[in-house]
Amino acid sequence: MTTKSQAVLNWIDERFPLTSTWKAHLSEYYAPKNFNFWYFFGSLALLVLVIQILTGIFLVMHYKPDASLNASGVPVAFASVEYIMREVPGGWLIRYLHSTGASAFFIVVYLHMFRGLLYGSYRKPRELIWVFGTLIFLVLMAEAFMGYLLPWGQMSFWGAQVIVNLFSAIPVIGPDLSLVIRGDYVVSDATLNRFFSFHVIAVPLVLIGLVLAHIVALHEVGSNNPDGVEIKKKKDATGKPLDGIPFHPYYTVKDIVGVVVFLFFFSAVVFFMPEGGGYFLEFNNFIPADPLKTPPHIAPVWYFTPFYSILRAVTYPLFGLDAKFWGVVAMGASVVIIAFLPWLDRSPVKSIRYKGPIFKMVLVVFVIAFFILGYLGVLPPTPGRTLVSQICSVIYFAFFLLMPWYSKLDKCKPEPERVNFK
Ligand code: HEM
Repeated sequence: MTTKSQAVLNWIDERFPLTSTWKAHLSEYYAPKNFNFWYFFGSLALLVLVIQILTGIFLVMHYKPDASLNASGVPVAFASVEYIMREVPGGWLIRYLHSTGASAFFIVVYLHMFRGLLYGSYRKPRELIWVFGTLIFLVLMAEAFMGYLLPWGQMSFWGAQVIVNLFSAIPVIGPDLSLVIRGDYVVSDATLNRFFSFHVIAVPLVLIGLVLAHIVALHEVGSNNPDGVEIKKKKDATGKPLDGIPFHPYYTVKDIVGVVVFLFFFSAVVFFMPEGGGYFLEFNNFIPADPLKTPPHIAPVWYFTPFYSILRAVTYPLFGLDAKFWGVVAMGASVVIIAFLPWLDRSPVKSIRYKGPIFKMVLVVFVIAFFILGYLGVLPPTPGRTLVSQICSVIYFAFFLLMPWYSKLDKCKPEPERVNFK
């Protein structure tokens, strides 16, 4: 560094902790040297968050949250999205980046969460990272749900109608609550305006705050790794973890590789199949919302379907409350229960590498059940499908609720002293 730029840096450092922050979080932040493929998805989630915010800013410049009909009899909101697609220079790209980004966000976050399951990253001392993560997941679902109403297509309208109506199943406060959410007796212009406001400002602010808390908590305790060994336990004479390497430049460079590979697949979808076969953008949503015409089959977007299946799996009333209410409870519980994982897992080891056959088998069954729930969530229900989704819902909850028992029972291998690195 030249003396001039050093002088500028000194001037800043005397007024703002620039160098010390850079050191604490990057150049002298020691991460385990044995990170693998699964450790790409945290930085990729950050990348997708940035893509969504940037593309969102440009979409808002041209989008209009207005349900009234224009001179051609098309809702203004729907027409403004068409305008972005056809008239705004590069608008189609910005819109497809944003709509594909929504699905990419969930793919990346699901893989990121699965990594946590594989390596026990939620275990002590990382409980709060996990709890913040679960909150991020919940908020992300709210963000995606509200964003989906904005194009004001048939699926936007009827999907919102179905989901908001669910709240009316809550005893006593339910009907008033769904009225407050909608701002009307049916999904209408008032609903569109408040969802727009939540989608573009309120929820993103919460999301960014939670992501910051997530990373601050991570940097307080340090990263886990595929061996589940705490690298802080073995330090050299200078106090640096023996199995740690500075995040920058080693992992910044590694993460760039992940970013390039991710962008390769992401652009392939954006440019060649932005509808994702009807899963990323549902075909019915290319039809303007019509409150008088219910589509024959209303299905949520793919990333909600496992939880939607759990909702539909509950078909029996209980304690005088109807099945719809218990379905909502089951669906809510299926997300909230994820936060309790740190206290449900009693295994003596963290990583799947040293866990016994029971955990491995249970995890495989859980993942299969989750995929089946996801698949059934896009199909119209039949008695047979409902039975399968009931079985899979039981498996889903059993994975969590029986964990204190089977995680103790399992025959684990001893954890190594140091991480494995070849
Ligand atoms: C917007 C969404 C999210 C972002 C931007 C994000 C970001 C990150 C980043 C950058 C890391 C460090 C790099 C890595 O370990 O891959 C990380 C670690 C972690 N995240 Fe997330 N995350 C998100 C959502 C979640 C969710 C939904 C969960 C779980 C419910 C979660 C659980 C964890 C855990 C347990 C770690 C520590 C992993 C370890 O040390 O092995 N995150 N996150």
